[in-house]
Amino acid sequence: MMSVSVPAALPDLLKSFTVEVLKQQPENLLDFAVLYFTELRDEREGKTSAVTESRPALRRGDESDEDDREHIITCDEEEHEEEEEEDDFPDDFTFKPPPTSKHSRRVSVCAEPYNPDEDDDDDSDLKIVHPKTDQQRCRLQEACKDILLFKTLEEEQFSEVLDAMFEVLVKPNEHIIDQGDDGDNFYVIERGVYDIQVEKDGVSRCVGKYDNKGSFGELALMYNTPRAATIIAVQPGALWALDRETFHRLIVKNNAKKRRTYEAFIECVPLLKSLELSERMKMVDVLGAKTFKDGEQIIKQGDAADCFYIVESGVVKIMIKRKAKAGRPRSGDEEVEVEVSRCVRGQYFGELALVTNKPRAASVYAVGETKCLVIDVQAFERLLGPCKEIMKRNIALYHEQLVALFGSSEDLKR
Ligand code: CMP
Ligand code: CMP
Repeated sequence: MMSVSVPAALPDLLKSFTVEVLKQQPENLLDFAVLYFTELRDEREGKTSAVTESRPALRRGDESDEDDREHIITCDEEEHEEEEEEDDFPDDFTFKPPPTSKHSRRVSVCAEPYNPDEDDDDDSDLKIVHPKTDQQRCRLQEACKDILLFKTLEEEQFSEVLDAMFEVLVKPNEHIIDQGDDGDNFYVIERGVYDIQVEKDGVSRCVGKYDNKGSFGELALMYNTPRAATIIAVQPGALWALDRETFHRLIVKNNAKKRRTYEAFIECVPLLKSLELSERMKMVDVLGAKTFKDGEQIIKQGDAADCFYIVESGVVKIMIKRKAKAGRPRSGDEEVEVEVSRCVRGQYFGELALVTNKPRAASVYAVGETKCLVIDVQAFERLLGPCKEIMKRNIALYHEQLVALFGSSEDLKR
């Protein structure tokens, strides 16, 4: 059978071109295509040619489609516009817009391709600050401390994110996000349970839930796509929202750095070989990095599971608690922890509980200072489907390992 490899950038390129065609309905498709791709290339090569609205990556989120339609901006004009913007907003200007809510959505076509390296908005002076009481800031910090998307931010950027966030209280059955809508905010959960529903082929299915922690709403903002799921509050809850512009300025820009930092490493993780490059990059976009001290516990046997790990540097040891064998000088109920294996750079752990929907089957500890890349269960489900077969084969090896060590693999059956 002939195998054809599809360049990673092709689908996005064709998609954005198609959207432009549908929006502009050009009479001569071929001429339009020549113009579109020439300008796109010039723009990517940094040439200073006149650019039309078909410059997808540089189009700012707040430009309306109407403005786009007729407007041709030369670079000079653009510089002038930027100068004017700078005049309007001096360096120390603090801008506080009213919180955008689900009820005041921006309306735009969301299908622009995403390339964080090209995301070069020049509005870094536009800092949004929503004043908070000390008590609010404490609650916000607590809610954000384990948010993976914030884990790779510099301290200053993180502090700007906290400044820009605003509180949203929700009622039972409230739809915080509706699938297909434009993305307005990214949300961090302070409290409450939220169902995740995904509609496919006209059938809506609950694919998971957030239980008093985690975050959602990053996909539409990262990739300029419609919301990919509906999120519904099951009970009264509290969320912290981050507006789209600040998310772009801080998180999306940081993603460009993340891609540069982790691309080479992710490329050589054996488990991820079966993913497309674009899928691996999507993983990089949502992962967080955590460093553990020597001996620190990363996973506790019996706990509920909410994330998956890949060792980036250092070593971890996997320990299983077993009843002490009869005949040993210990009381019958006493449990001992036995090391069953170790993982080094490029290896993964924490998949078993996610695949089997059971509590953690073992405890995991850092051996020396260890850095792990972490992704949450929702991203695991969304992005690592193609790797599940490999994981399942390795899970079968855990059984063999336990039988060899203990004579049975009863721990995995619990
Ligand atoms: P976004 O598409 O912006 O809005 C809906 C959010 O639901 C999405 O970002 C993710 O953060 C979250 N989500 C959780 N699980 C899924 C899933 N299986 N598919 C799509 N989105 C999901
Ligand atoms: P999980 O059960 O989510 O958390 C503990 C992890 O230890 C588990 O996923 C596996 O990734 C890893 N592990 C490695 N060897 C074993 C083993 N023999 N039995 C159970 N877990 C193991």
